[in-house]
Amino acid sequence: MQKKNGKSRISVIGLGFVGLSLSVANAKCGFPTIGVDINEQKIANLQKGIPDFFEPKLQEMLKSALSSGLLEFTSNIERAILNTDLTFLTVGTPPTKNGKVDLSQIKKVATKISQILQKKKRRHLLVVKSTVAPQTTDNTIKPILSSFIDSGKLDLVVNPEFLREGSAIDDIFKPHLIVIGAYNKSAGKKLENYYTKFYSKMPEVIHTDPTTAEFIKYANNAFLATKISFINSIANICQQVPNVDVNTIANAIGKDSRIGPLFLKAGPGFGGSCLPKDLSALIEFSNKFGKKNTLFKAVKEVNDTQPQRIVDLLQKIGVLGKNKTISILGLAFKKDTDDIREAVSIKLVKELIKKGNKIKVHDPMAIGNFKKIFGNKITYCDTTDNCLKNSDCCVLLTEWNEYRKLGPNDFRNRMKHTNIIDARRILEPERFSDLNFMAIGLGQSEQQIP
Ligand code: UGA
Repeated sequence: MQKKNGKSRISVIGLGFVGLSLSVANAKCGFPTIGVDINEQKIANLQKGIPDFFEPKLQEMLKSALSSGLLEFTSNIERAILNTDLTFLTVGTPPTKNGKVDLSQIKKVATKISQILQKKKRRHLLVVKSTVAPQTTDNTIKPILSSFIDSGKLDLVVNPEFLREGSAIDDIFKPHLIVIGAYNKSAGKKLENYYTKFYSKMPEVIHTDPTTAEFIKYANNAFLATKISFINSIANICQQVPNVDVNTIANAIGKDSRIGPLFLKAGPGFGGSCLPKDLSALIEFSNKFGKKNTLFKAVKEVNDTQPQRIVDLLQKIGVLGKNKTISILGLAFKKDTDDIREAVSIKLVKELIKKGNKIKVHDPMAIGNFKKIFGNKITYCDTTDNCLKNSDCCVLLTEWNEYRKLGPNDFRNRMKHTNIIDARRILEPERFSDLNFMAIGLGQSEQQIP
């Protein structure tokens, strides 16, 4: 691949949702880009323009990037490193059972890069984008590559990513901030120069050291998690107080600019591949220093117990157990993704299977992933109508736009008993007052709850 219009040649190692979105976005901005992954099936599909997960706008952009000739995919990491100037490291850092982070993919790739760099003459810039605990680059990545850093053949920079699943492409093009954690000024400047060619309007940049950059990412996600557990704690109290609604409270406090309106949506608890994992890893990291980390443990505990609130409501209305059918609308951990990692739907369905319930599920995107876990233990429905048919209770678990359109008759005409639990607060309670409608954070008088 040739450098084009003075733009660096980019390689991206690890084609999960961050790596693939980044590869496509780079090609779109005119950078010759090579995406690398060890999964050959994934590479074969990507070469045909087929991503292995759903992300809005991604597939169209992937196809146009491939036809522009600026994007290619390979399993050959050596070819990618030798033919590019800047590599983004975006391999997975999944959680281990004890809440730590599995660094095996990071170590493997860093070791491979150190072997390849022996064959490379030109200087290379390696940018760590994978989310890792503070001091990981210092203690784990740098030692593997130190001889190349010391001899000036390699610049190593930490550059955390803040994009969200479901809006990854928009977030890449409009970040609120770029954090650059470098060992020396010139390496940090090099990465900033690349970004000045990527963005027509340069976002704000904060330059710092690698450990602080890693810490910023953890602190960012921990704060978001804290906001959600905070509002869920308020919601759980609201639910006990007749006529009080957490949404009114969240709307009001969100107008205080010191608080802000975002991430105050009460619900079944946060899921996904990032907030739960990063929170546990931050708790683990702080344990190393022997300090009791009361706040983050509480944030985690609130989140871990939040799905039980739904089970409690199901118990209250008497629909737990054999001969009762529960319909679940929404399986993905949030809308606009097919990702079910750490999704509340998994915890809830496991619990309901234990209770002996018959379970029917619907999701516009995530059924395929859910089948891999639950096989033929539950019923998968292709429409909301089928999912609601003859059901004793419906739980709304993901805020997909199509569920917002449901009206009282959609439930009334299909369900055996019109019990509804809106765990995402997407339906207007007033419209459903004739049905047995319950919602997270909605205080209802005893008469309203059967
Ligand atoms: C999160 C962060 O928002 C990104 O900035 C970060 O880059 C990313 O993790 C990461 O570390 O890679 P993501 O996991 O895609 O992004 O999803 P979020 O939009 O943060 O939602 C996480 C969970 O919180 C979802 O289950 C969502 O439904 C829940 N949530 C979010 C609430 O329950 N209430 C809210 O008000 C907001």
